[in-house]
Amino acid sequence: MISPTMQDALNTQINIEQHSAQLYLAMSAHCAANSFKGFAHWLSVQASEETAHAAKLIQFLLDRGGRLQLRAVPAPAAEFGSVIEVMEKTLEHEKGITGKISALFELAREEKDYASEITLQWYVTEQVEEEANVGEIVAQLHAVGDKGGAIWYLDSKMGKRGA
Ligand code: FEO
Repeated sequence: MISPTMQDALNTQINIEQHSAQLYLAMSAHCAANSFKGFAHWLSVQASEETAHAAKLIQFLLDRGGRLQLRAVPAPAAEFGSVIEVMEKTLEHEKGITGKISALFELAREEKDYASEITLQWYVTEQVEEEANVGEIVAQLHAVGDKGGAIWYLDSKMGKRGA
């Protein structure tokens, strides 16, 4: 049985993952509206990943006999600026998520909740990957700038992201 403290913290993280999904969907729509179909695709796949992150935590919570308490998901913005700004915001957001996962991991340790700790290890690793991937995209965007042909080459590359 999961402790009330851990249950509450996991419910909070589920909400954060759902908010991430909403945020990336909004960013995807913003990119699509600005003809960056590749970035729109990449962000839509990212949104699906966030939904999967939430689903994985929900399943874990239920497997531990915990209670799911879904909360209101804050509405994301609708405007995100240039493609570079979109991806910089994505990187900042992911860094914030890494902090949340680290705090959750620390809580699991304090609570001696080994099952949560092991499950959260997956998220720790995932955050390393997410920050590295988005960081690389931001670096490439800074290298090419948001004008000229190279940005469209990057856009077509982003459109090839698999599910
Ligand atoms: Fe679920 Fe992108 O962190």
